[in-house]
Amino acid sequence: MKHTHLILLAFCSLFTTLSAQQKTTPVYSDVNIPLEQRVEDALSRMTLEEKVGLCHAQSKFSSAGVPRLGIPDVWMSDGPHGVREEIVWDDWTPAAWGNDSCTAFPALTCLAATFNPILSREYGVAVGEEARFRNKTMLLGPGLNIYRTPMNGRNFEYMGEDPWLSSIMVVPYIQGLQSNGVSACVKHFALNNQETNRDNIDVEVSDRALYEIYLPAFKAAVQKGKAWGIMGSYNQYNGQHCCHNEWLINRILKKEWGFDGVVVSDWGGTHDTKQAALNGLDIEMGSYSNAMPRGKNNSYAFYYLANPFLDLIKKGEIPQSLVDEKARRVLRLIFRTTMSPNRPFGRFVCPDHSQVARKIGGEGIVLLKNQQSLLPIQKNTYKTIAVIGDNATRSLTKAGGSSELKVKYEVSPLQAIKALYGNNKVVYSQGYAAGAFQYGRTTRSTANNDSLLNAAVETARTADVVVYVGGLNKNNGQDCEGGDRTSYGLPFGQEKLLEELAKVNPNIVVVLLSGNAVAMPWLDNVKAVVQAWYIGSEAGNAIVDVLSGAVNPSGKLPFTFPKRLEDNGAMSFGVSSFPGEKGKETYKEDILVGYRWHDTKQIAPQFSFGFGLSYTTFELGKLRASASQFKAGKTIKLSVTVKNTGKVYGAEVVQIYASQQHPSVMRPVKELKAFQKVFLNAGEMKTVSLEVNTNDLAFFDDTKHAWKLEPDTYTLHCATSATDIKSKVDIKIVN
Ligand code: BGC
Repeated sequence: MKHTHLILLAFCSLFTTLSAQQKTTPVYSDVNIPLEQRVEDALSRMTLEEKVGLCHAQSKFSSAGVPRLGIPDVWMSDGPHGVREEIVWDDWTPAAWGNDSCTAFPALTCLAATFNPILSREYGVAVGEEARFRNKTMLLGPGLNIYRTPMNGRNFEYMGEDPWLSSIMVVPYIQGLQSNGVSACVKHFALNNQETNRDNIDVEVSDRALYEIYLPAFKAAVQKGKAWGIMGSYNQYNGQHCCHNEWLINRILKKEWGFDGVVVSDWGGTHDTKQAALNGLDIEMGSYSNAMPRGKNNSYAFYYLANPFLDLIKKGEIPQSLVDEKARRVLRLIFRTTMSPNRPFGRFVCPDHSQVARKIGGEGIVLLKNQQSLLPIQKNTYKTIAVIGDNATRSLTKAGGSSELKVKYEVSPLQAIKALYGNNKVVYSQGYAAGAFQYGRTTRSTANNDSLLNAAVETARTADVVVYVGGLNKNNGQDCEGGDRTSYGLPFGQEKLLEELAKVNPNIVVVLLSGNAVAMPWLDNVKAVVQAWYIGSEAGNAIVDVLSGAVNPSGKLPFTFPKRLEDNGAMSFGVSSFPGEKGKETYKEDILVGYRWHDTKQIAPQFSFGFGLSYTTFELGKLRASASQFKAGKTIKLSVTVKNTGKVYGAEVVQIYASQQHPSVMRPVKELKAFQKVFLNAGEMKTVSLEVNTNDLAFFDDTKHAWKLEPDTYTLHCATSATDIKSKVDIKIVN
């Protein structure tokens, strides 16, 4: 045969193979076909058993795909501050892999405190890259439960007390995360505001509080962030568990908000096959099935949404359309993530991620007090720096519950302080003993607290300055899943320790590591207080950036610090309001959560929502509005000048709070409706522009189940915290 004939023959056979392949390529795996068509096609090829198989776990952190059709499993991981280590197939034992030590990013309270949505996106992108690299379909986060009381053990995983702040901050996090082809799983939907009796507590809350306070961030996550996943919470609402709650999932999430993603149960949060089938749960995770004793092999076939579900469908007691709908959602998730042609490859533990973590840490740290400008501490000002406190050396990425991380590295505050100021200048004393971590148990240290205290006092006596690094930790009863805090004051004898230290040294900087407010009876005795959250891998570096002035603090509190616990709205009503009695709990403070309560009841907080100092000073001009009258749905354009009147570069957060002058219903004195962080060189002035849509001034009218914007005069307050109002402007809403 001639050479050209050979080539022709080869070409023809290649062409026939290709077209044969094309013919057999199923619609569902053809990425050029619209996603919904692919979903329907895949569904039409699946057996009933395969559809049911998509709706429940096959291991601790995965649910099965359809291997016969090449549809992959769904792999999930906590979330929300980094990608958790691998866990063995059937229980919580770590799998002991050698390649899963991640970057720990700052806790979400710290992210919220940046008041900087640009950093939210960077956070989402970075943590998403880590999740993608680890081949996860879904990251179990971010957490969005509103900070209702300082006692909640999981507040550190959430974004504070204000629905507007968390709504603005969560959207770019989700967009950034999902840009990696990894789904968010926004949690815990909804009203999961405590750990005490979390599996069963039945929450009673008004529709107004539900819609105005507890739901907006979830709604923003779904409608603006376009989250592909959401996790039902453990607790009950209206006498029904939230993982299969008719009101929350079917009526609000899926019908009112049009959510088209998957509802995943919290681990062990499913309790009934019919309810799970009917009330919108799509994937059941973590149940202990009835067929096997708790703690043994989880026997996934016996999950509520496994064989019992299949049986009811086969008996005709549940329509097949229900399983189709669940399977459709799971397929959509898989096509959006693992089977997406646009899925990048991710990155794991890289300098960029460390930098993002450090930047967010530095911008989220809040300077609460700085008498006589004790801070920043320049490199050569002092000869001896005493570092005191257990948190200066304790790993705070370990423990805390499901957000616990196995990290590649974690820079402790002591390490970073020594690195910057010099080993020879820094002396360390533990000061108090905080016990080792054991899940669900409070352990006591065997160390003698009196001798630790005495040693610390002697260390402080001879030092020029004391950097006290204390606060809470991630142990049971502190900032930890599975239990709430047991007292508002600092634990482990720290109050006494601070009192004694103040007697021997006038220059004390308190660095608080916590995800919650604490009582501060020692406040007058110390010169400086820095709220430094849980920052993760870069904790020490970010803290030293602020202590040394390399970073000028610009974080603002995402929740109020009450002076006394009973000053907090939820706590003021006693046990029926928190943590509930006889299995029931009523949110008696209603819509008056956080600063809304303090404002309206005129209870001065220790530190206000939105508060945070800087090493420079700012002057705000008068707030101006684009007009004085507006109709519904219109945008009020606002502007104000901000000048850096100090000597160093810094940032201020302009906050706009709104109040209605003659509402027909009770309304909080004021509510956050816009904010903008502005960065300024020393002496520089900028005009900051902000926008408020008039519809956002409405309240939820529970008699009509609709938002209502009343024609009235509204005041817009321009402020630098909920209690530092600089100027105001009145506008009218007209019909
Ligand atoms: C937590 C969730 C977590 C899940 C999986 C549950 O106990 O409430 O937040 O994602 O466990 O670890």
